[in-house]
Amino acid sequence: MLLPLLLLPWAWGARTASPPLPPASVTLQLLQINVFHNTSSTDMEGMALLGDLETHSMDCSTCQIRFLQPWAQRGLTPKEWQDLELLIHHYLFNFNRTVNRIAQQQGMAYPFVTQVSVSCEFHPNGTSRGFYEAAVNGEDFISFDADAGTWVARQGDKLALYTRDLLNHERSTAITLQFLLRATCINELKSFVRYGNESLERQERPVAMVFARAPPPAGTPASLLLVCRVTGFYPRPIRVAWLQDGEEVGPGGRLSSSGILPNADLTYQLRSSLAVEPGDGHSYACRVEHSSLGGQSLLIPWEQSWGWGPGLAVGITLGALAVAAVAGVLWRSRRRGYQDVRPGESRA
Ligand SMILES: *[C@@H]1O[C@H](CO)[C@@H](O)[C@H](O)[C@H]1NC(C)=O
Ligand SMILES: *[C@@H]1O[C@H](CO)[C@@H](O)[C@H](O)[C@H]1NC(C)=O
Ligand SMILES: *[C@@H]1O[C@H](CO)[C@@H](O)[C@H](O)[C@H]1NC(C)=O
Ligand SMILES: *[C@@H]1O[C@H](CO)[C@@H](O)[C@H](O)[C@H]1NC(C)=O
Repeated sequence: MLLPLLLLPWAWGARTASPPLPPASVTLQLLQINVFHNTSSTDMEGMALLGDLETHSMDCSTCQIRFLQPWAQRGLTPKEWQDLELLIHHYLFNFNRTVNRIAQQQGMAYPFVTQVSVSCEFHPNGTSRGFYEAAVNGEDFISFDADAGTWVARQGDKLALYTRDLLNHERSTAITLQFLLRATCINELKSFVRYGNESLERQERPVAMVFARAPPPAGTPASLLLVCRVTGFYPRPIRVAWLQDGEEVGPGGRLSSSGILPNADLTYQLRSSLAVEPGDGHSYACRVEHSSLGGQSLLIPWEQSWGWGPGLAVGITLGALAVAAVAGVLWRSRRRGYQDVRPGESRA
């Protein structure tokens, strides 16, 4: 089907008042990746994220904490950072030893990779939660229930059950971990939020455009997709809706969304599409609500008359007629030309 990608000029459109987006929870997450090459060689990499900001990293050529944000060192005294580094070294040493011990006892094949996420989140209503989750070779393996203070196997195999039982016998580790997740992590989180507030509260305004394109060949309910492309916004929470004659189109088969995807510059993008019939007589607009817009929303109308509407269809038809007419004239004049040239005659 011949339906060119129609890029329409986008507009900021009318700004209308909109209710504020609900405040989001904040998360502090420590990620730890170990590659166990063999019983005597392990590589470790770690990083800390506050929300979606990378704040600290550690790689164990030196096993020193590196600060990735100007404010990342604030909130703890140099002595406290030193103690924290020691605590992490101690933890990593025990982690390595325990994993190697389990691997050898259970005959695990080297090499393998472990991923650990230690995190806590603080909700706007003042409650918080902590998580310790571990994966082996990319699959959930075991996690720690911080409320109950017990380990839970995330898969039913012998190795995960064995590890769960082994760790559940180490009561002192469980109590320490509970304290780290419920108190230490939350205190650090609050401190980083205080010093990093400007980075966290960074506001980048979305840029939005609306265009139409042919739907993919299979399984689409209509012959035209209106696409609303919204990009360059920060923070992540956003609301994008399609309006038909001013009414929000409800969820269903006509709507689809890419989900929120990261850009390389720590902003986000999203595409929302609506399937429509060309020339159906309705008006369509994309509405974008984001915290950077100061309580207003962007409204980008779909300018049907400029695009794949009757206007364009007539344009294409006229264009096709013109091409056909020119071709016909050329063909007739060539035929006449041949007919005019008779044997024995020369062309003037
Ligand atoms: C263990 O793996 C490391 C890194 O791949 C390698 O350099 C070392 O020779 C290996 N050691 C043994 C005992 O296989
Ligand atoms: C990890 O543990 C193994 C065996 O217990 C040991 O040989 C190795 O040196 C340890 N590696 C690190 C980085 O601690
Ligand atoms: C607080 O908010 C979180 C996240 O929105 C929710 O899961 C939790 O149930 C809330 N707790 C209370 C006591 O309202
Ligand atoms: C961040 O917090 C500091 C100290 O609490 C305060 O002085 C500053 O105004 C805050 N900045 C923003 C952008 O909220």
